[in-house]
Amino acid sequence: MVLVSDILDVLDNITNGRCLKNSGDFSSNKNHYVVTKSSNIPGKAVTELPGLISGNLDMEVEKLAVTMTLSEHDIELAGATGVDAIVAHHPVADACNFGGLLLKDYLNLYNIALFEVHEALHGLHPGMSWIHGHVPYYSNFSYDNIPGNVVYIGKTLPEIKTLGDILNRLNNLMDLDSHTCLLNDNEKNSLCLRGEILLGNESSSVKNLIHIFPHTGFTSKHLEELVLKFPNIDTVLVSFSRVFSPHPLLEKSKELGLNFICGNSHTFEIFENGIPLAQAIKDYLPELEIVIFKENVTSIPLENISTVKMRNYAKYISKKYLHK
Ligand SMILES: [Fe+2]
Ligand SMILES: [Fe+2]
Repeated sequence: MVLVSDILDVLDNITNGRCLKNSGDFSSNKNHYVVTKSSNIPGKAVTELPGLISGNLDMEVEKLAVTMTLSEHDIELAGATGVDAIVAHHPVADACNFGGLLLKDYLNLYNIALFEVHEALHGLHPGMSWIHGHVPYYSNFSYDNIPGNVVYIGKTLPEIKTLGDILNRLNNLMDLDSHTCLLNDNEKNSLCLRGEILLGNESSSVKNLIHIFPHTGFTSKHLEELVLKFPNIDTVLVSFSRVFSPHPLLEKSKELGLNFICGNSHTFEIFENGIPLAQAIKDYLPELEIVIFKENVTSIPLENISTVKMRNYAKYISKKYLHK
């Protein structure tokens, strides 16, 4: 029999003791991974609490779901499929993740325990580099003293010789062709965001690359400094987020004679971080049934959404009630 307390122990082991052991630890003085993040928009900050968010330690768990960003989709799916506990990677907040409802109300209704492990999970494994086909020989998790400004400089794996090899590796690993099959001309979805070469071409050779994440505060000045320090860098690889032309990082890369390639987007983190986390929990607790909640957002033009009846319903409501 697996209890919520067993899962908390496992998450603490997986993260080398980074989880909160009890509510008294709720202080970033005691736990470096209790971190409040804010864009300085009043009322919108949230604090990460690695470990158990809701549920009793002695609750029994037979089925556990691992998800990235918790939403009303997850809790309704969990309730309907007999999930007793959810481990979310991205931090959760009251009246946010569950479509504006309180976490406790919804979780208690379906008797579900909730855990989160975000920054506490980061930096534990080299999966992201491996997926993109390189082995880092330099890494910095706060370059230029900017927390989260992660930089890897890596040598490509023996089988990776060109930019095209990186794209093929990503397409195969992420099984992108099967996702693409779901698309028609009008629909796009978030799991079909392929890698893309912005400077160079599929046959451009790559041996030493700098792997950065444009949303973390990495600047073209940082790039210039690092290329000076590591002159054998031939390629800039961005993942999680990407840049769109024109962009200072692209301009600087061109000036320095570097290739530029966009790898996986954030939407693939369920593969990069979620599945290894789920597998690690399974390795500790083989008797636990584990499912992955995989998200995929589809973009459909308003003129094509749903059925004619639904579109007429929307027109009626809009005209009769949503205009002054
Ligand atoms: Fe993430
Ligand atoms: Fe993450």
